[in-house]
Amino acid sequence: MTEDIRILMCAPDHYDVDYVINPWMEGNIHKSTKDKAVEQWEKLYTAIKKYATVDLVKPEKGLPDMVFTANAGLVLGDNVVLSRFYHPERQGEEPFFKKWFQDNGFHVYELPQDLPFEGAGDALFDREGRWLWAGYGFRSELDSHPYLAKWLDTEVLSLHLIDNRFYHLDTCFCPLSDGYLLYYPEAFDSYSNQLIEMRVPAEKLIPIDEADAVNFACNTVNINDIVIMNNISDNLEKQITEKGFTVIQTPLTEFLKAGGAAKCLTLRVTEPIVEDVHANVSIISKVIKLEGHLLDSGLMNRALDLIINEGGSFKVLNFNLGIERQSPSTAEVRVSAPSSQLMEDIVSRLIDLGAIFTPEKQVDAILESVIQAGVSPDDFYVTTIYPTEVRINGSWIRVANQRMDGAIVVDKKDDKITATCKVLRDLKLGEELVVGVEGIRTVRSPQSREQRNQTQEFSFMSGGVSSERRVELLVEQIAWEMRHIRDQGGKVAVVAGPVVIHTGGSGHLSSLIRDGYVQCLLGGNAIAVHDMEQSLMGTSLGVDMRKGTPVSGGHRHHLKVINAVRRAGSITEVVEQGIVTKGIMYECVKNNIPFCLAGSIRDDGPLPDTYMDLIKAQEEYARLIKGSDMILMLSTMLHSIGAGNMTPSGVKMVCVDINPAVVTKLSDRGSVESVGIVTDVGLFLSLLVQQLEKLTNRTQNTEVKI
Ligand code: ARG
Repeated sequence: MTEDIRILMCAPDHYDVDYVINPWMEGNIHKSTKDKAVEQWEKLYTAIKKYATVDLVKPEKGLPDMVFTANAGLVLGDNVVLSRFYHPERQGEEPFFKKWFQDNGFHVYELPQDLPFEGAGDALFDREGRWLWAGYGFRSELDSHPYLAKWLDTEVLSLHLIDNRFYHLDTCFCPLSDGYLLYYPEAFDSYSNQLIEMRVPAEKLIPIDEADAVNFACNTVNINDIVIMNNISDNLEKQITEKGFTVIQTPLTEFLKAGGAAKCLTLRVTEPIVEDVHANVSIISKVIKLEGHLLDSGLMNRALDLIINEGGSFKVLNFNLGIERQSPSTAEVRVSAPSSQLMEDIVSRLIDLGAIFTPEKQVDAILESVIQAGVSPDDFYVTTIYPTEVRINGSWIRVANQRMDGAIVVDKKDDKITATCKVLRDLKLGEELVVGVEGIRTVRSPQSREQRNQTQEFSFMSGGVSSERRVELLVEQIAWEMRHIRDQGGKVAVVAGPVVIHTGGSGHLSSLIRDGYVQCLLGGNAIAVHDMEQSLMGTSLGVDMRKGTPVSGGHRHHLKVINAVRRAGSITEVVEQGIVTKGIMYECVKNNIPFCLAGSIRDDGPLPDTYMDLIKAQEEYARLIKGSDMILMLSTMLHSIGAGNMTPSGVKMVCVDINPAVVTKLSDRGSVESVGIVTDVGLFLSLLVQQLEKLTNRTQNTEVKI
């Protein structure tokens, strides 16, 4: 027996599964067998007693989980940070553990109320005492970690737990003697895995698979070269033994029903202090401000969820609920993150949601110069579709050419300050770019409840897959808006894929163009080829459009069309020479509707009009899209995404595709202006044309009456 190692345990006199506070307990209420639990606990106790002194704390009636002494607190030297349980079910244990620590001469530190931390269940010292690994995400709050660093004078490395089956750090992570680490990597986010790999050399890592993880293989009591654990796979036993450890397996199935095993049932109360280790923690906090219809727009939820999902934590410092229906609410939230990198990620995404990062005092945006043309400094602010402002010399400047995935260039020449969105490749040497997250805000129009409800009725995003009736309603709304845009002399851009032709939509799109509903057409080589193939030969990729069957030799049709256009010189020429006499491209030429066809690797031909230089194609798309009021995206994912990236918020985007995944991807820009419709595009166009005709007839009828 090693005299100087002491371990605290608590006999299972009152142990049972009485409630559910973790996924293991579900379905297990009162399912543990008393005698079996006692027998298993005794076996563990006897095994441990061979290698350490075991202290016992008196079990208390009504506190079934008190057996899990790992959660009593976290001990280092004579100090202990007492646990503050997350669940009320376990909070009753706190005074009993506190008393035991006090009676045994420990100095007890207590965390502020409402700051959960579940002791050695969520905080494990490196066995050489070099630092403390601390978990957060389920039971312990990230904001408790700085207290641990301060009170125990140690370095804290925060690890984000992401699988609720492994809700305590000690369920999936176990530092072993000699610098080894037994752990289940999938239980952590990628940032935490990086941190682990940075601190522990690869040859010391013992990653385990899910089968052993769910048997709580990481929930191991390690005393020097002994490891005591629940039963594990032969393979893992071999692996651990090869590293020089003696594996003692003891069944703990009764405790697994409550979500615990060997390590949870113990608390090491002799943790030696390493002299040259001192307080250090990389957690940082920032205060952000949110304003708007925070509750009923769901913004508050989204912001708080985002912070947690990204691996941060928060404290709402104040919340002012707007009392009238139209009055906005404001909130100040302190965000904490385990590293400055993660903090920047979180804050910039909060800015996208419309939050303003408010340091103690208002500060200007930070600028950094471009030192290599076409390349930006690393932490440049990545723009979104939302109107953005940057604070320069104390005033907020609106960013011009707003688009997604750009950088903000600030120009201070001639006393006039301007800020402009630019794509990376256009950055010029010496230009000044906005970096970091300070002095940036996005302007989100606070919608009224009425507007919101209305958009929701017509929006796909909130409602899952659109049913046929919903499609009709959506089309009615879109037709009305297109009519309105046309009457106002506005602009509708159409991005269309070849499916428009294959599904019989060509005639409908042609009539939309003819009737003045379309102001520019964007697509790839294929839409133009198949459209003209249909005009010339009645087939689309060799399929007879009336009968729906392949025409013999039809697979060559599209090449013949390409050849004809190449002979004529261009699409305009082939129309002007009277070769192509109907269809989408015909209507574009005849009605002076500009179009841009962007090429790709799979293009046959291509047509002389197709831009094979993609940078030129992007520029031309952007030029044509400028000033649009609406973009109709018809069954072409890549061209639509391309177009969407160039479009600021405020432009209504209608995405139609038969594949729900495409629709979600395109419409999920967090913008209320996007509408997604899952349906056959040919059918959509036919409904749209019908609806527009109805509107026209209605107007004519009214005119007659008047
Ligand atoms: N039922 C207990 C709980 O959910 C189990 C605690 C296990 N302890 C541990 N250190 N993992 O809190």
